[in-house]
Amino acid sequence: MNSESSANVEKLGFETQAIHAGQDPDPVTGAVVPPIYQTSTYKQDGIGGTRGGYEYSRTANPTRTALETCLAALENGARAFAFASGMAAEDCLIRTLCRPGDRVIIPGDAYGGTFRLFDKVLKAWGITHAPVMQTDLEAVARAAAAQRPRIIWAETPTNPLLSIVDIRALAELAHGHGALLVVDNTFASPYLQRPLDLGADIVVHSTTKYLGGHSDVVGGAIVIKDPGHAADLAFNQNATGAVAGPFDAWLTLRGVKTLAVRMDRHCGNAARVARALADHPAVTSVLYPGLPGHPGHEIARSQMRDFGGMVSFRLAGGERQAVEVCARTTLFTLGESLGGVESLIEHPARMTHASVAGSPLEVPPDLVRLSVGIEDPDDLLADLSQALA
Ligand SMILES: Cc1ncc(COP(=O)(O)O)c(C=O)c1O
Repeated sequence: MNSESSANVEKLGFETQAIHAGQDPDPVTGAVVPPIYQTSTYKQDGIGGTRGGYEYSRTANPTRTALETCLAALENGARAFAFASGMAAEDCLIRTLCRPGDRVIIPGDAYGGTFRLFDKVLKAWGITHAPVMQTDLEAVARAAAAQRPRIIWAETPTNPLLSIVDIRALAELAHGHGALLVVDNTFASPYLQRPLDLGADIVVHSTTKYLGGHSDVVGGAIVIKDPGHAADLAFNQNATGAVAGPFDAWLTLRGVKTLAVRMDRHCGNAARVARALADHPAVTSVLYPGLPGHPGHEIARSQMRDFGGMVSFRLAGGERQAVEVCARTTLFTLGESLGGVESLIEHPARMTHASVAGSPLEVPPDLVRLSVGIEDPDDLLADLSQALA
């Protein structure tokens, strides 16, 4: 893509942006793939005479810039910031937006690590949180009126219960109470859902998941709609320093290029797995927004392109059976994380969500979570069938 067409990248389709936004061929060598600028510092042409503004790689690095430009385009945001992990992105965002005394409404079924950040780290610095099930908008409105929060923090679909929150309605509610709406878009990815277009103010990602897509890199990102937040975020990203390194940024960007085709296959495979589980006698319920009986199905249809690759289910045999099934699969690898090309299985209560044990966010012990990969779906169904037998 030449620089003229690159300037109009925002007019291009999602798949084209994923491959080209921020990724012009290298002006010096013509390299089609943005190089890994594995450098900590940059030669200056006299004091303050930087080439393109690069002076030190904590502040900015061209490979990270390429990733940040691409993520901003994919989420239709004004600017993006790439971090060493999703948690680093969340921490930087909250400490940029909040001050001691500020309150945040978080999902009643938030990702365990997000809850732990609020409960065990930020609380000690005077930022308090209130968990509310955001599928109940009246409960969110009551909490917002009582708490006057600085932020309403949402996830949709949620991890691991796959509940769906109405982003448009929540954005209206947040703004009506003078709060910002932050959406963790990790489970959907920008290919399936663009919260900023639906009224949210800020998106966060664990890019470790679908954006990276290959279980080979840990990273995080913040994408903002209002450029007014950019200066403070850039300042804090540099001041606190948990940035994505050049190789991690490059790996993530390499994954992003194929996001659309991977997501289509994740969604197709997950839908087949969800339908098969729904028919299985050992399964008491399947949590997948693509099933017509899911309470958030219609909202998901209205705000998502498809229903995603994550499926959770509960077992008649309780915790014992859930643990056994996790031990018996062979293609579904027992492991934390999600969003890679390979299928994973886990027991949230003892693994990813052990940090919410004993809290109001505790997850049911009979729950199993699947990250459905892009393998042959017949093989995946056969594996689950033998594990449930
Ligand atoms: C929904 C969600 N948000 C944030 C995170 C944190 O991201 P990371 O593990 O990259 O720090 C995760 C990790 O699993 C997640 O699932």
